[in-house]
Amino acid sequence: MLTEIAAVVLVGLLGWTYQATRPPPPKICGSPEGPPVTSPRIRLSDGRHLAYRESGVPKDEAKYRIIVTHGFDNSKEFSLNASQELIEELRIYFVSFDRAGYGDSDPNPRRSVKSEAFDIQELADQLDIGSKFYVIAVSMGAYAGWSCLKYIPHRLAGASLIVPVVNYWWPSLPANLSRTALREKAVPDQWIFRIAHYAPRLLYWWRSQKWLPPAPMFEGHPVIFSRKDKEILTKMPDALRPGQDKVTQQGVFESLHRDLMVGFGHWSFDPLDLSSPFPESEGSVQIWQGYEDRMVPSLLQRYVADRLPWIKYYEVHDGGHFFIYERSFSEAVLRALLLGEEPPSTLLD
Ligand SMILES: *[C@@H]1O[C@H](CO)[C@@H](O)[C@H](O)[C@H]1NC(C)=O
Ligand SMILES: *[C@@H]1O[C@H](CO)[C@@H](O)[C@H](O)[C@H]1NC(C)=O
Repeated sequence: MLTEIAAVVLVGLLGWTYQATRPPPPKICGSPEGPPVTSPRIRLSDGRHLAYRESGVPKDEAKYRIIVTHGFDNSKEFSLNASQELIEELRIYFVSFDRAGYGDSDPNPRRSVKSEAFDIQELADQLDIGSKFYVIAVSMGAYAGWSCLKYIPHRLAGASLIVPVVNYWWPSLPANLSRTALREKAVPDQWIFRIAHYAPRLLYWWRSQKWLPPAPMFEGHPVIFSRKDKEILTKMPDALRPGQDKVTQQGVFESLHRDLMVGFGHWSFDPLDLSSPFPESEGSVQIWQGYEDRMVPSLLQRYVADRLPWIKYYEVHDGGHFFIYERSFSEAVLRALLLGEEPPSTLLD
C-alpha cells in the first residue's frame, strides 16, 4: 500500500516537474499563430526552412564567396563593417543566414553542433555558391565554424573565427583553467552555463524563475562589457543587433536557450583534437580574440590557439567582444582571410 502511494506521488511529481519545465511550443514562422515569413528561405532535406540574406557583389561576379554565421541573440542581419569600395575591389559575395530557431528559420529540436555544418553545406549547395567557400563565424555562431572544420573541411576555402565561443567542458581543456575562467563570470551566468551543460532540460524552467537574481548575460548588464565594448555600444547602439525585433520572434527557447544548450553541451568532437583542413597551406584558419573580452575568456582562447598551431591567432590587446563592429577590424579580418595579409600591428597593440 505504502509503496503504491509513494509510486503515485512520484508519478504526480514527475508529471508536475515535466509540465513546469517544458517550454511552450515555438511560434513557427509562416504558421497561422506565428509571425509572417519576410525573408527568402531554402527548404532543407529534413523539411526545415532556412532564411538567408545575400549582400556584397552579385554571386556570379564574385571572386570570394563567404558564409557568415551570427552570434547569440543575433541574426542574418549581422554584417561585417567593410566599405563598399573594399567589397567591390575584392569582389566579395556574402550570404548570412538565421541559425535554426532564430529569425525566420524553423527551429531544429535536434539542433547540434554537427547539424549546423550541414545546414551551411545545404545552404551553399542550394544557392550554388561553388564547391568551396569561406566561412566567417562569430562568437556563439563559431560552434558552427568549428563544426565546418570538423565535418565539411573539404568544402572550405578558409575560415575565420571571430571571438569564438569556448565551451568550458571541452575534454582537453585543463580543468583548473576552465574553472578559473568560469568563476570569473557573474554567479547567475555561471549557473546558466552549468545548467545548459548538466541539466539542459531545466534551462527553460530556470530562466522563468522570477526569484533568481537577474543574469547579466541576458540583461546586457555592464559587467559583461569591456571598456572598449562600452565605447562601441555608445558610438553605434543600433549597429550591434539590427533587426532585433525578429531575432527571437519564434520564442526564446528554440533560439537562445537551445543555442546555450548546444554550445555548452556535450560536443560530438573536441576542437582541440582537430587537424588542419589545409595541409598544403591552400587555405588558412584564423581566430580573432580580444584580450579584454568579458564574454569569451582570452585565458581559454590562448590555450586553444596554443594547442592548434595551424590556426593563426590574432589577439587584440585592448579589444573586448565587439571590435569586429569597427570598420578597421572587419576589413583586417577580410584581408587576412582572403589575401593572407597580416593586420597592421597598430591594430593589435
Ligand atoms: C593549472 O594547472 C597547471 C598544471 O597543474 C599549472 O601550470 C597552471 O598554472 C594552472 N593554471 C591555472 C589558471 O590555475
Ligand atoms: C562601421 O565602423 C565605423 C568606424 O569604425 C563606425 O563609425 C560605423 O558606425 C560602423 N558602421 C556600422 C554599420 O556598424
